[in-house]
Amino acid sequence: MNPAKRATELRKLIDYHNYKYYVEAQPEISDREFDQLLAELQQIEAEHPELITPDSPTQRVGGQPIEGFVTVRHREPMLSIDNTYSAAELKEFDRRVRKLLGSEPVTYVVEPKIDGVAISLTYENGLLTVGATRGDGERGDDVTHNLKTIRELPLRLRTDQPPRLVEVRGEVYMTRADLVHLNRQRQAEGLEPLANPRNTTAGTLKLLDPRLAAQRRLRLFTYALGAAEGVELKTHQQLLQLLKTWGFPVNPHIQAFDSIHDVIKYCDQWAERRNELPYDIDGLVIKVDDLEQRRRLGATSKAPRWAVAYKFAAEQALTRLKAIDVQVGKSGTLTPVAHLEPVQLGGTTVKRATLHNADEIARKDIRVGDMVVVEKAGEIIPYIVRSEPTVRTGAERVFHFPTECPVCGSPVRRDSGGVFYRCTGRNCVAQLKKRLRSFAQRNAMDIEGLGEEMIDRLVETGLVHSIPDLYRLKMDDLLELERVGQKSAQNLLDGIEASKQRGLARVLTGLGIPHVGEHVAELLAQEFGDIDALMAATPERLSQVPGIGPVLAENIHQYFQSETGRHTVEELRKLGVKLSEEIRPKPKAGETPLAGKTVVVTGTLSRYSREEIEDLIRRLGGKAAGSVSRKTDYIVAGDKPGSKLDKARALGIPILSEEEFERLIGR
Ligand code: IVH
Repeated sequence: MNPAKRATELRKLIDYHNYKYYVEAQPEISDREFDQLLAELQQIEAEHPELITPDSPTQRVGGQPIEGFVTVRHREPMLSIDNTYSAAELKEFDRRVRKLLGSEPVTYVVEPKIDGVAISLTYENGLLTVGATRGDGERGDDVTHNLKTIRELPLRLRTDQPPRLVEVRGEVYMTRADLVHLNRQRQAEGLEPLANPRNTTAGTLKLLDPRLAAQRRLRLFTYALGAAEGVELKTHQQLLQLLKTWGFPVNPHIQAFDSIHDVIKYCDQWAERRNELPYDIDGLVIKVDDLEQRRRLGATSKAPRWAVAYKFAAEQALTRLKAIDVQVGKSGTLTPVAHLEPVQLGGTTVKRATLHNADEIARKDIRVGDMVVVEKAGEIIPYIVRSEPTVRTGAERVFHFPTECPVCGSPVRRDSGGVFYRCTGRNCVAQLKKRLRSFAQRNAMDIEGLGEEMIDRLVETGLVHSIPDLYRLKMDDLLELERVGQKSAQNLLDGIEASKQRGLARVLTGLGIPHVGEHVAELLAQEFGDIDALMAATPERLSQVPGIGPVLAENIHQYFQSETGRHTVEELRKLGVKLSEEIRPKPKAGETPLAGKTVVVTGTLSRYSREEIEDLIRRLGGKAAGSVSRKTDYIVAGDKPGSKLDKARALGIPILSEEEFERLIGR
């Protein structure tokens, strides 16, 4: 077939299947078949570059970085909406609307208020020309290059008769699961985790390089038009229908009601159920359905009179800060932790909260004894928003960061970044205990009999001053300890002896090298095979390992250059600890990453029934379990997941969306 004709045909096919997948959630072909269509098109375009069109699905990723942002003027301003926080305020809104409309019947459309970033997409004769952020409402930034990476965003409207010009408005967002996934990758690269999906979305849209944006999975819902030439509509519900036919994703939880009572009921339901959605919503938006009524209601300079936002109260609670405790971490970092009068918050009892660092305590003027507001944001542990200085009694005390380590008394110093305090003691027992605990942990050297209490006693009696000292322990030493008999002593010695054979990956996991956990340790062991090759690697060589970024590479290199690092390794070697690893043959395409893994499924999936996915897991060599425990390797969470998801979160088990699961198994 003639390549021009085939390219057109392929684009049509790809757009059609994209639509089926993203808008209707009813795919007709497998991802593999889809990828084949895309590959064929890429091939044709590579051979005939003159055939590339701006709306070709190949143009979504891999564009060139831009130099800077261009400001664009919205043809119609992007207004904001007034907020309400209670049923009473909603009734007040309803009264105003009905009064202005002279008691006509009114229908309201209620939509989830997506906690993302508002954008405006301009289509001229059906083709996407510009995508911009809201900015100040009048002008925003041109972020077309990043918006094009959103797979469900149509590059061309699905219609033969497109309007000459239309601005489609909506919200770009990210799911919580995608953020968790991204943070896991960042951690492996030694980067700070990103705080929440909304800020991450905003940050991603402001990246200059669309290839970076393409690696983060942004998503889209549309809900409004700006300027529109030649679009005839009577109601908002018709608009939503039109957006769907044009190929845009529209939120599935939108409903219309004829009374404010029913609107309020629906809002209350979502206030309870907001956590069931895979993305954050911060309330609902209530809109008058009839466009002619909207015209009569008009707008103030800032917001329309025909719409209102009903915002959920943030999950906050007021309680007393009883004490601030300073904990010493593995590498000597001192972290302030707030001890609170127990309080109910978002379904759990909160007793502690992070205070991050000394500057934050000072900036927020948080004093011991204060009443404080604690908040839970997404899955992140609760933090203290502010203190309540108006109810102080005078008994509150300003917190001074200790100048000496609360455990070993060594001087405390600010680190080079100037944010954290560190204990300078080389033999700080708190640090040592933490290090020994991570070394003995199940995912590291898995030393039986070496629990927290035993570690404390070994350190406090001076029997153990370092990790290698564990391998020097003798029966006589142990028998000197109170309440340790022959049998438990032998048990511990056997455990220590057995740990010598765990191999390099486990040793690396246990050493406490900053940001080197189980996963990174495994990558290093498989790449280098033994400790000498690893120690000889330059930072450049290390960062060539897929999954290891430059910051992490530098960390690892520094550890093995440091005196402690070298000394520890030499001692372990002398004491007979195995410092090499059998390199496994790389799994061939088609081999399964689920072999031996326990997977739990919760919620409704879009592409599999429960039986189908469990069957699939078993066929791939995994075990499909019914309940979550520490033995669970992955949880696959669909729509409306149950309490299993909470349990998995609490246990820190990786949570996969349906898509991530499919990526994992290579579909
Ligand atoms: S309608 C004039 N619908 O909330 C009305 N906004 O405070 C235009 N938002 O800037 C907005 N979900 O970023 C509308 N379903 C939804 C929304 C929504 C989220 C955001 C939007 C807007 C802000 C208003």
